[in-house]
Amino acid sequence: MFKILHKRLLTGVTKLFVVEAPLVARRAQPGQFLIVRVREPGERIPLTIADYDRSAGTVTIVVQEVGKTTRLLGALEEGEAILDVVGPLGRPAELPETGRVVLVGGGFGVAPLLPKARALKERGVHVTSVIGARNADLVILEEELGARSDRMLVATDDGSRGRKGLVTDVLRDLLDAGEVVDEVIAIGPMIMMQAVAEATRPAGIRTLVSVNPIMVDGTGMCGACRVTVGGQTRFACVDGPIFDGHAVDFAEAIRRGRMYRAEEQEALRVWEAAGCPR
Ligand SMILES: Cc1cc2nc3c(=O)[nH]c(=O)nc-3n(C[C@H](O)[C@H](O)[C@H](O)COP(=O)(O)OP(=O)(O)OC[C@H]3O[C@@H](n4cnc5c(N)ncnc54)[C@H](O)[C@@H]3O)c2cc1C
Ligand code: FES
Repeated sequence: MFKILHKRLLTGVTKLFVVEAPLVARRAQPGQFLIVRVREPGERIPLTIADYDRSAGTVTIVVQEVGKTTRLLGALEEGEAILDVVGPLGRPAELPETGRVVLVGGGFGVAPLLPKARALKERGVHVTSVIGARNADLVILEEELGARSDRMLVATDDGSRGRKGLVTDVLRDLLDAGEVVDEVIAIGPMIMMQAVAEATRPAGIRTLVSVNPIMVDGTGMCGACRVTVGGQTRFACVDGPIFDGHAVDFAEAIRRGRMYRAEEQEALRVWEAAGCPR
């Protein structure tokens, strides 16, 4: 069992948990993820390691409630425990040693930028962070990421915080203004990462994305998480989840991500009809 030491509501549906997991914290690197099972019986879901503290023996996860399992997890309180936490899984991010990097985050994707920003700052890399949300109430971790960045830029769809528009509009503003950008790292919904990759493609700026396909075992055995990268089949759980955004077949990845939508909606419906048992 993995005890929840701290819980914080970031938005109505986005929750941050600091979880006691000393063995995971000891080996965690930016870019890696966990597979958690909330209770028995229950499905295993992948969640990015949003932060870690080796001396405290804790890992931080940020959960956006989108279906049954993320809602079950989101309902846990401080002092309660998660049944299983497996990790760290996946390859650590290969971060640059020098230069100017733009980090782009949307939705829960803002959280996994935290350890990357910290690692980049420790190396002396110049970090600009660009985060986006539908409105000001849904902007998360602006202060925390801002503290690890040289510059913090925010975009909201309705203009209630920062620039009105999308994170890709902010990125294009920077590029159009002649800003030197050596590398972009984007994390968020597939559609957002696809748009970021298209924004940087003309200038040939190296762009890393962290894909989030459906996963089952997380060990390269089941094939559920396969993505096509540069025309080759790769397994996100062992070969990724971070890939060259210019080489990812996003159309296929988005299509595969929707494969079980009917079953996911049915699972949620049945659970809600039963009164959302914990
Ligand atoms: C490597 C990796 C890291 C991830 N990190 C995080 C994280 O840090 N925080 C977080 O909140 N989520 C993260 N996800 C997504 C998370 O695993 C899914 O949202 C979760 O499995 C959904 O389970 P559910 O039962 O709540 O919803 P489901 O019933 O499975 O799905 C409900 C709806 O959510 C959407 N959805 C389902 N799976 C995904 C997915 N993989 N990506 C995007 N949308 C999805 C679909 O629209 C679906 O119809 C990550 C996924 C991967 C592969
Ligand atoms: S989740 Fe099974 S191969 Fe990646």
